[in-house]
Amino acid sequence: MTTAQSAAARRVTYQLETLWDYDYVPTHDELATLYETAKKNQWNGSTAIDWSRPVGTEGPVLNVQMAFQGTEFYGKLTDEEKKEVEIRVSAWRLSQFLHGEQGALVVCGQLVNSIPELDAKLYASTQVVDEGRHVEVFERYVKKLHKIYPVDPLLKALLDEILATNIWELKLLGMQMIVEGLAIAAFNLMRKQTGDPTLADLLDYVLQDEGRHVNFGYFALRRSIPTMEASRRELLEDFTFRACDQMYARDERTGFQSVKSVWREMGWDGDAVWRDAIANSPTTKAFNSFLFRDNLMPRLERLGLISERIAPRYRELGLLT
Ligand SMILES: [Fe+2]
Ligand SMILES: [Fe+2]
Repeated sequence: MTTAQSAAARRVTYQLETLWDYDYVPTHDELATLYETAKKNQWNGSTAIDWSRPVGTEGPVLNVQMAFQGTEFYGKLTDEEKKEVEIRVSAWRLSQFLHGEQGALVVCGQLVNSIPELDAKLYASTQVVDEGRHVEVFERYVKKLHKIYPVDPLLKALLDEILATNIWELKLLGMQMIVEGLAIAAFNLMRKQTGDPTLADLLDYVLQDEGRHVNFGYFALRRSIPTMEASRRELLEDFTFRACDQMYARDERTGFQSVKSVWREMGWDGDAVWRDAIANSPTTKAFNSFLFRDNLMPRLERLGLISERIAPRYRELGLLT
């Protein structure tokens, strides 16, 4: 076990409230439709995807070189070195999605307990199965491609906070809206860029499911936020802002910094490459702005989570005009 793996705690302790619903009264039609679609569209990760193909050999796995555009050293690398960095960085990125999928699996298991209405519990039960399947296919792919990298400390801290809270709205907001909302946008882009047929198939299947998951969070929160106590809503607003502030990679303090371990494996100066490929790269900036500003912010605004109280802080980050 590496130091980084042992540093990420395997145990999170919390007290979780379980709610029964003896009313058996459906809450809203959208949920019933989602539940039906979820039951109909189940797929089997071991047979839906053809695993007999070699992976990482056709086309780029992920577009890694985009982040290096304009840097001096990348142009000097040999083709073999470029392929090596593509495989390693792709495995690192996909490992973070794999850990995120495991996070979704365990959070969704909690939602079956903590969400108040029975029809929402039933829907959440289908998402548990979906997430189990996502863990299965990502694990299989990453192991076949290269190796599983440790969970990024920032991602781990965020997932642990979502697990440890007793507030079900915060679990839905953190997982279904923020983590899964960002993942869908990234998956769509990865799907367009990948030249690897196995990864393309995997993403097509996973994206089908993730669309439902974000809708589930959105429908439930849209019903609960308008009638929520002010203090509870402020807590959701503050959590959301903090998650955006930390994950919106734009300088030496923010973003998933554990990618530096890959660059060190390549024999490069991790901090210097971070500055080139993240802090000073126009393509990375454009990508992060697409993820947060164009994709996440409009949804948060529609949910009423960008209040006058919190809006100035988003403006400081450049996520709001
Ligand atoms: Fe998932
Ligand atoms: Fe999901």
